[in-house]
Amino acid sequence: MQFEYTPVPSKAVFGKNSTMKLREEVEALGGTRVMIACTKNMVARISHILDDMGDMVVSIYDKAEAHCPEHIALGAVKEFNDTNCDIVVVIGGGSTIGIGKAITLRTDAPLIVVATTPCGSESTPIHGMLIGNKKKTGRDRKVIARTSIYDPVLTTSMNAHLTGTIGMNSLAHCIEALYAQVKSPVSDIMAVEGIKALTQGLPESIKSPDNLDAREQVLYGGMLSGYCVTLAGIAIHHKLCHVLGGHHGIPHGESNSVVLPYAVAYNESAAPEAMKKLEMQWEQIVHQVAFMISRQ
Ligand SMILES: [Fe+2]
Repeated sequence: MQFEYTPVPSKAVFGKNSTMKLREEVEALGGTRVMIACTKNMVARISHILDDMGDMVVSIYDKAEAHCPEHIALGAVKEFNDTNCDIVVVIGGGSTIGIGKAITLRTDAPLIVVATTPCGSESTPIHGMLIGNKKKTGRDRKVIARTSIYDPVLTTSMNAHLTGTIGMNSLAHCIEALYAQVKSPVSDIMAVEGIKALTQGLPESIKSPDNLDAREQVLYGGMLSGYCVTLAGIAIHHKLCHVLGGHHGIPHGESNSVVLPYAVAYNESAAPEAMKKLEMQWEQIVHQVAFMISRQ
């Protein structure tokens, strides 16, 4: 057996109400002047967090938008510098995390992510923004969040459609990791565990949005799916989804939901070992895909 494995350089703080440890985590990284990045809708949901942080919060940048447009990301970098912040805290999903990564990439300030979706972006080196109608991406390990907080309570803000489609994206990260270019036995373990958690938690999270145990499973699977992207890379499925998103504006979760069965079928004969691992979870995966289709 021959492989290379570099751990993801990110601390995970996981569990119900773990968001209340945010202040402690900011202080652990030496942060004194905090910029919070989020969406307008999120601001009302995090008043308890802002109360706990007090004067540390110097700026709340609530302009996050889908696909992280260039003017929004660069506007955040300017605001961060103008207000002399020394740490950025993202409370949100992939597009909001894009803002945090844009700041960290350009200022070297540490990034903390409170993940409100299971997209896994907080632990990947992939950064990007929408320039015109093209998504421009790059890779740099310094944009990986130094600390990621996973609090299922905050994920209840996702409606059934978002829960399902973003969940399918996380599932695709794990499935692709089983046959992607730089996979290893370690990434295989995370991929199989992630698939198990997602297929167990997603149907119940969609049917009963306030079921925190199911939300916890999905968030755990999402966390692992981010590690999978970093440790194993992506393959044809995600390449197709990025083309569909860039050229036709199809949301990432939705393209993932449609393309995944076809991409797996395309790879079936070329990746027999991966398919063997998938077969053990096959019933749950098929159940999840069928469930998603029945919701459309
Ligand atoms: Fe993805």
